[in-house]
Parts: sequence; structure tokens; C-alpha cells
Amino acid sequence: MPWRDWIRTVEVEPSILAADFGHLAEQLETLLRTGARIFHFDVGDGHFVEPITMGPPVLRSIAPLVHSMDGVIDCHLMVDNPVRHFPQIAEAGGDSVTFHYEVVDDVPATIALAREYGLQVGVSFDPESEPEDVAAVAADADIVLCMSIHPGFGGQEFMPEALDRIERLRAALPEQVHVQVDGGIDNDNVRAVYDAGATLIVAGTAIFRREDLPRAYRRLVQALA
Ligand code: DX5
Ligand code: ZN
Repeated sequence: MPWRDWIRTVEVEPSILAADFGHLAEQLETLLRTGARIFHFDVGDGHFVEPITMGPPVLRSIAPLVHSMDGVIDCHLMVDNPVRHFPQIAEAGGDSVTFHYEVVDDVPATIALAREYGLQVGVSFDPESEPEDVAAVAADADIVLCMSIHPGFGGQEFMPEALDRIERLRAALPEQVHVQVDGGIDNDNVRAVYDAGATLIVAGTAIFRREDLPRAYRRLVQALA
């Protein structure tokens, strides 16, 4: 099923990086029951980004549960050599890969390669890259991810200039390509991000670091109603 069929107008995507890994399955099941369908899975290699986060073994452990409840896993590859990981991500149950524009020479060819593994595809870019430059090569992607922080760690402040960058990206992309935003999303900025043109909104801290996960997820969704 293609990305656009996963999106019900707009989706709040829990970012697993902020989860309690001792209770990961439980937390995912709770969020699936609450209505979350798309889960954001951050792979960091300790090189393109400072932290080493998680990879195929964790993905393999959670994919059956997520898929059995009609969810999908969106893998954000914050790594230097994303292509090398496509087969393992696909084999471990990832549904989509998003690679960084900054580390790939030929973006259209990399999108095509990911599709050969049966993966949906996203292209991500850092706050230093220009939205129009990315849009110019990412028209064949399913989603384009505008980072609203410097990638790496969860729990950072949303960069306010991201709003303008989301608008510029939205204007520069073909209509069928969805705009995703990742980093520092909370109840106070989620609506503005949507109004700027994002239809996939990633949130880690604002969901998993709250006492009541269903309530935290619902509050973000309600802000978009
Ligand atoms: C970090 C990751 C994000 C992170 C977002 O660079 O790409 O997905 O989990 O976390 P919050 O929502 O806490 O900023
Ligand atoms: Zn991410």
C-alpha cells in the first residue's frame, strides 16, 4: 500500500526514539489502540549524527506487532551510507525508508533503488539545505522530510524558521508528495506546522515522555481537527 493511502488527511507519528525500550511493545500497542498508524523509527549511525540509536534487530522485533494492528513503520535513516541498509531494513519489516539529501549524490536513482526493495521512499534535509534544491530532485519520492531540528537527538527545541521552510517546500513540490516534519513538535506548534503544509507530523518527546500516552497522542491529533 502506498504512502498516500497511509495518511488520513494528516498523521501524528509517534517517534520510537523517545520510547521506554523496556516496555516498547506495550507502548506501541497502547498507541495503536489509540489510533496511531504510522510509527517513526530513527536509525542513527554515530557518524552522520552523533548518537547510535537503533537498527534492524529492534525493527524485526516490533514489525509483526505493528503490522498485525494495521500499522506501518517509517524508517528515518540518519546515516552516511543509506543505500547499504535498504535490504536489511526491508527484510526486518520496515515499510518506508527516508534518506538524507546531504549524503546522496543521485537522489532520483536512490529513490528508484529503494523501490526495488518494495519500500516507500522519503527524502530528508537538514536546516542548512534549501527546500527548493531538495524539491527539485525529490519529485519521485512519496514524502519529503523537513527537519525542524538538527538531526540526532530527541527532545530538542523546534526551530521557528522551520515554518517558512515547510511553506517553501510545500510550494515547490508536486501535490502528491507529502511534507513531513520532525523535531521539537508539541501541543503549541503542531497546528502551525500543519497550517504551513505538513501532513506527516513526527513527535517523540511530546508523546512518549508524557505520563498518559493515549492522552498525549490524542491532544496532538485534536489540535489538528
Ligand atoms: C531526531 C529524530 C527525531 C526525534 C524527534 O533527530 O529524527 O525523530 O525522535 O524527537 P522529538 O519529538 O522529541 O523532537
Ligand atoms: Zn526522525
